[in-house]
Amino acid sequence: MAEFIISPVDYDFIANLLRDQCALVLDPGKDYLINSRLSPIAQRHGLTSIDHLVRRLRDTSDSSLVSDVVEAMVTTETSFFRDVHPFETLKKIVLPKLIELRRPQRQLNIWCAASSSGQEPYSIAMLLKEYFPDLAGWQINLTATDISHEMLQRSRAGRYSQLEVNRGLPTNLLLKWFRQEGGVWEIDEQIRRMMTFKPMNLAQPWPAMPAWDLIFLRNVMIYFDNDVKKSILGRVSRSLGDDGYLVLGGAETTFGLDNSFQRIETLKSGYYQRKP
Ligand SMILES: C[S@@+](CC[C@H](N)C(=O)[O-])C[C@H]1O[C@@H](n2cnc3c(N)ncnc32)[C@H](O)[C@@H]1O
Repeated sequence: MAEFIISPVDYDFIANLLRDQCALVLDPGKDYLINSRLSPIAQRHGLTSIDHLVRRLRDTSDSSLVSDVVEAMVTTETSFFRDVHPFETLKKIVLPKLIELRRPQRQLNIWCAASSSGQEPYSIAMLLKEYFPDLAGWQINLTATDISHEMLQRSRAGRYSQLEVNRGLPTNLLLKWFRQEGGVWEIDEQIRRMMTFKPMNLAQPWPAMPAWDLIFLRNVMIYFDNDVKKSILGRVSRSLGDDGYLVLGGAETTFGLDNSFQRIETLKSGYYQRKP
């Protein structure tokens, strides 16, 4: 296939499409990224160039092409127990407090938003199973959402390569909760059954949801502009139950965006709660 060259007009078209569809901000100078991520999409749809792909997008409302373009352009980098410290905070501070608070109801609602290929919500599920035997008999709603159908499919399959399990997953948890089949590690049915994976675009209207006790919203707002961040944090604030907890990525904050939150510093990490 001929090398793709992107005209400034096509570049703007793709940037606007991404902003409209998923709030992703595509800074100038990302031609290489468009080339490398959209060339396979163009090929898959029988299109000969990025120019051809943009023409198709302009001329038709081909929703499968739009969704393939969006899915190809979002960054899905993730790993088990990513950044370690937030999970230590979860284990040592947040979950013990939540369990005390919710003991009368014996119910926990946990939402992992922008969950990519599932390593993050499965890390939470393993942590619950491994360190909180008290929760047996509780009603645990562990919901993970993402805009990418491909990532959700991968998550539901719960199958990971050697490289993926090598990143962040302690060996004892690998051996206890995964079964090796060929070169692939498949997560135990007990863990998989704890999870519900659903499509959800954070930048569009949200469906009705329960009051969440804990929201993990990590490493996705970095791709959005401040207005979108404010709108998402406003909705997160309204979605949190009383005394609910919010965990953001290491490069993310509510500071200067939503003053209904306070940050509590912990073990080399931190979490947010609504101000009293
Ligand atoms: C960098 S990954 C972060 C994964 C995980 N939270 C973590 O921290 O390891 C970002 C994820 O956000 C998803 N995403 C991007 N834009 C989104 C949107 N508008 N709504 C929902 N998910 C989105 C992507 O599909 C991707 O899986």
